[in-house]
Order: sequence, then C-alpha cells, then structure tokens
Amino acid sequence: MLKSTVMSQPPLLVTCGLPYTNGPCHLGHLRTYVPADCYVRYMRRTGEEVLFISGSDNHGTPIVVSAEERGISPRALSEQFHRHFDETFKRIGVNFDHFGMTDDPVNHHRTREIMSRLEKNGYIYKQIVHQAYCPKCRRFLPDRYVEGTCPYCGKQARGDECDQGCGKHLEPGEIQDPFCKVCGTKAEFRDQEHFFFRLSAFRDYLLPFLDRLRGTSNAKNYAIGWIRDELHDWCITRTLDWGVKFPGRDDLVVYVWVDAPIGYIAFTEEWAADINKDWKRFWCGSTRVTHFIGGDIIYHHCIFWPALLKGAGYGEPHAVVASGMVKVDDHKFSKSRGYVVWTNEDYLDKGLSPDYLRYYLLAYTSHTKELNFSWKVFGERINNEVVNIFGNFVYRTLFFAHKEFGGVPPGTTDPAIIAEIEKCLTGVDAQMKEYEFKGAVDTIMGLAAFGNTYIQTNAPWKLIKTDRDAAARIIKNCIQIVKALALLIEPVIPAKAQECWAQLGYSDGVATHMIDEAAILVPERQLMAPIPLFSRIEENQIAELDAVLQHRVMEANKKMEKVPSISIEDFSKIEMKTGIVLAAEGIPKSSKLLKLKVDTGGEIRQIVSGIAQFYKPEELVGKNVVVLTNLAPAKIFGVESNGMILAAGDTASLLAPEKPVDPGTKIR
Ligand code: 2FM
Ligand code: ZN
Repeated sequence: MLKSTVMSQPPLLVTCGLPYTNGPCHLGHLRTYVPADCYVRYMRRTGEEVLFISGSDNHGTPIVVSAEERGISPRALSEQFHRHFDETFKRIGVNFDHFGMTDDPVNHHRTREIMSRLEKNGYIYKQIVHQAYCPKCRRFLPDRYVEGTCPYCGKQARGDECDQGCGKHLEPGEIQDPFCKVCGTKAEFRDQEHFFFRLSAFRDYLLPFLDRLRGTSNAKNYAIGWIRDELHDWCITRTLDWGVKFPGRDDLVVYVWVDAPIGYIAFTEEWAADINKDWKRFWCGSTRVTHFIGGDIIYHHCIFWPALLKGAGYGEPHAVVASGMVKVDDHKFSKSRGYVVWTNEDYLDKGLSPDYLRYYLLAYTSHTKELNFSWKVFGERINNEVVNIFGNFVYRTLFFAHKEFGGVPPGTTDPAIIAEIEKCLTGVDAQMKEYEFKGAVDTIMGLAAFGNTYIQTNAPWKLIKTDRDAAARIIKNCIQIVKALALLIEPVIPAKAQECWAQLGYSDGVATHMIDEAAILVPERQLMAPIPLFSRIEENQIAELDAVLQHRVMEANKKMEKVPSISIEDFSKIEMKTGIVLAAEGIPKSSKLLKLKVDTGGEIRQIVSGIAQFYKPEELVGKNVVVLTNLAPAKIFGVESNGMILAAGDTASLLAPEKPVDPGTKIR
C-alpha cells in the first residue's frame, strides 16, 4: 500500500493550463494534459503528496464572440464546454482532483482579493489609453474584437497578440490600422481610463527567480531572453461585461490572463473546502507548484504570473513544464485548415484505446520537442512497440506459466534479474523527475525488450522437456519482470497496466502500490489463462482514420480557397441588367429547376434557374431580379437558357435593386 516516504518537503501541486470554453478538446490539449497526468501518477507512487488541479478558462473576448455567434450567453457556452472537457479528460484517464471554472464565485473572490492586495502594495496604477473603438458598433474593441497590423513585425495581428507573425503580446492601443472584427469598420482610437500592473518593477525579482525555477529548459530560457528585453507594464482591465469586475469599477473587468492563473488558486480552495483541508499549504510560504503548460504561454507563466504572485504576497511557482508544438501530417496544427485531431470525434468515439494515444503522446518524442502526428506512425508505433514488445512478452510469460505450472511457480528471482529491474527503476526515476517522459517510457520498454530476449534465449518451452525446475526458474524471473512492467507502466497506460496487474493474480489496484515494489517477489499462486492485453491496429483502420483527416483538410481548403482578384477591365466584360419575371413554371422531372421568362428591357429571355426548392413559380411572377445577360446560352435539362438570375447563399435569396429602376438597367 502507499506509504509516505517524503515528509520534509511541502506538498506538490501540479496544474495544467486551463482550456478555453469555446471549442472541443483536441490533440494539442492532450499533449500537455497526458504528460502532466503521467507525472502526477508517478510522483504519487514514489510516496509524494500530490494535488492535481485544473479547470476551464471561461473569460476573454473569444468566448464572448463565440457565444454571440451561437445566440447563447457566455456562461451557457462555458458550462457546455466545461462539461465536455471534464468528461473527455476522464475518458482519457487524466484524473484531476478538481476541475473548476474560472467564472465560479471563488475565483471572482480570489481575483478581487489579489487585485486589492496589489493595489495596496503599490503595483497597480491608472492610465489613459488610446483604445480601439468601433464607431459603427459603438463599443470599445478589446483584444479579439479588433484586428490590424503588428507594430513589431508588420504582419496581420489580433488585438492582444501577433498570432500570425512574431508572437508578441500586444497591449491595448498598440495595434496599427485597427478594424472591428465584428463589422469590418475601420476602428478609431479613443481615450479611456484603464488600470496597469507594474510588471517593470519585478525585473530584479524575476531574474533570480528564473534561475531558481525548475521545469523544462525551454520555459526558463525563453523567459530569461524576454526579461533581458524591456519589461512593459501590463494593462489589466478591459471594457467588457463578461469577466471578473475590477474592484470598485462596474464598467471594467480584469484581463482574462489575470483571473485565469488565479483560477489555479481558486480551484485549490474549492477542492480544499469540499474536504475541509487547508489550501494555503499549497500557495503560501514555501510551496511546490508545478505548472504544465503549452509552449505558447510561457511568457504568462514565467513572467507575468510569478510577478502577480510575488506582488500579492503568495509563494512562487516551483517549476514550469512547457510542451512542444503539435503538428499534424507535417502541417502546423490548425483548426481552420483542418489539421486537427479531435479527441472524441476522431479518436475515443471510434472505440480506440485511450492508452494507445497516451502511449503515443508520451513516447513519440521529448516533451519539449515538436510532435508531428500522423495516423500511419501512430499505428506503427503501437503495433511495433506496445503490441509486439510489451504485449508479446507479458502474454508469452503468462501463457507459459499458466500452461505448465497453472500459475506462478515457487522459488525466488535471480539477483541478475533484480539488478536489471533496479537499473530500470533508477533510470525511470531520474527521467520522470526531469520531465523526460519519452526517456522514461523508452527505459520501461527496454525492460520489456530485455524480457523478450531473456525468454527467447532461455527457451523455457524447450527446457521443460528435460529440466522442469530450470524452466520454472526462468519463468519465475519473467513473471518478476512482468510485475515490474505493470507497476512502471501504470502512469503511462493506466487501464492496461491494471489489466496486466489483475492477470498476475492481484485483486487490488496497481496504482495503490509503490513503484519500488517492483523487486518484491511474486508469490507462488494459481493464475487464470491470460488474455492478450493489446490488439493490433489494422491497416484498414488506419486508412479510415486517415481518410477522415484528409477529407477535413480538403473541405477546409475549399472554404479557404481565395478567388483571384480581377482588374476593372475583367469586370467590364460582365454584363448584368435588372429584369422582371413575367412567367415561371417547373421543368418536368426536375425538382430543382424552374423555367422563367424575364423581361430584361426590350427583350424577353428564357432562363433556367436552380431555385425551385426555395421559390414557388407563382411567387416569382412580377419580381425584380438581377440577370447576368452575356452568359453564353446553354441547354439545361434539354431547355434553352439565356442568362443567369443572381441569388445569394444556400437559400438562393434573389438579388434585387434597392430602389425601383426600369427593366434593362445596367448594373455597374
Ligand atoms: O492559452 C490558453 O488556452 C489559456 N486558456 C490558458 C490559461 S492557463 C492559466 F493561466 F490559466
Ligand atoms: Zn508581430
């Protein structure tokens, strides 16, 4: 059973970057959450007290914009996606102790408390900013409501970050040539009073802090590089209704990047309140807070957030672990371009094992490197490694033990085998604690490969014919390796490790055992006949999964295909005139087409139009329309057509002049 071996250190608090509640869970999320879960599981099984916290990030303009588009409130949208993330994480075996919402009251309260402390400590000041304002929508345009040109690199950028170019955070008022994201109108700058956080005052604190900070070197190095540049104060209020109100100001909410990380504290409070524990142990004084985040939010976690904590008198982060980028089929991860893998729709709902994806994410490459997803490589790695090496060794061992001995034979394990297991434990421990998850998985797989070689070279199936005791010793050693593998692989593939554990004859949870029990002997006992732990992923299944991805990319391409621009001369080749419909009738055997007689000024044309699903013939008579008059004549369904009626969108809404004009008037 679990024993606590590490008493002197403060408890470990592990957090995962909070997903925004405006879209579903995808591979990019999992690249951070699965390793965090693996780390938590491992550390617990070395005797550490670990609390694992996350939640959903509900504020900010993208969520307001998405909610507006769907005609629901930002709260309703957030609740919908909050549930989605909570359920999805459970399905993939990422088990948070608590998964909160940043819009819940505890976070509102904690955020205001921290703002008040910062104000009291002199780290907040007021300043007038030139804020982008849309004269047509008649509102200020915070963050994603505005787009324009990045003042640093000249690329198209969003109001709060240069997402297409240099990646810099942009302060309100910095963006150039701004236009309103909602209506496209050129924005104006208007003066408005906002509150600023004195980030520049933390330079002397942050440099030594970053030196102390543990975690992955990418996080630390980027942050140190940024600090060498100038540290700008941050505008921390926004003119929005949705968010945490700035203390004493009903017209302003705090910037989403203020209340989001404070959510880590609030969720700890919520967890603690439920079971009557003290949340301050995790956040005040000497603490061990470890943040797992995506590589795109290092600045926020290594610079902004530690300064907020310091300024408000809280403990500082202990480690920041930043995951590398995810690509799909060699392309930058992109929802709009279709290079995305959705956790539920594309993976779990297809009945694929959560553990396969966990293995792939952890074993593919180092945590900080780029992960280039492809279904083909996914299939290969699972089949070649999980099925052929790990699964094969476990099955061969248990099959032989059951067949020849009815289970685990008596006897002890050879010291050489124990030494091999100990070597593996030491290697895994060092790598897990350095956040080298791939290294740890490779080391575990190395033990499985060792087991395969061992059983193959010692061939107990031959030995048993001449020396039953010798065969028993070999298989006993193999069983010891299987036990070690089950214990070690649990943080990586928890569900499969549990199955393996049960096949070894244990009736409790593998996760309730310490990792270092791997070398404790498996007692003589009867076992059931084993069942293979893993099944291969077949090529046709991989092809089907890949086809879904390719189809999505194709559809996205179609949507994004840009129509080439044309010159005014090109446009002048098009002749369009107003007309009036004189008669309309269906075309036999066609549900989509109508035959129209249209007066286009001094001539009556017959035009076949694909609008039968949207207009009855009798509704059309007398309607003003716009006609493309110099379209080459064609026969459609055997009926002569001379021109085309212009209509807009999927419901073929007919275009008509806004003020009355005579039939035959040219469109210019
Ligand atoms: O970048 C993001 O997706 C943010 N929602 C992450 C927030 S993490 C934290 F600081 F709250
Ligand atoms: Zn830029």
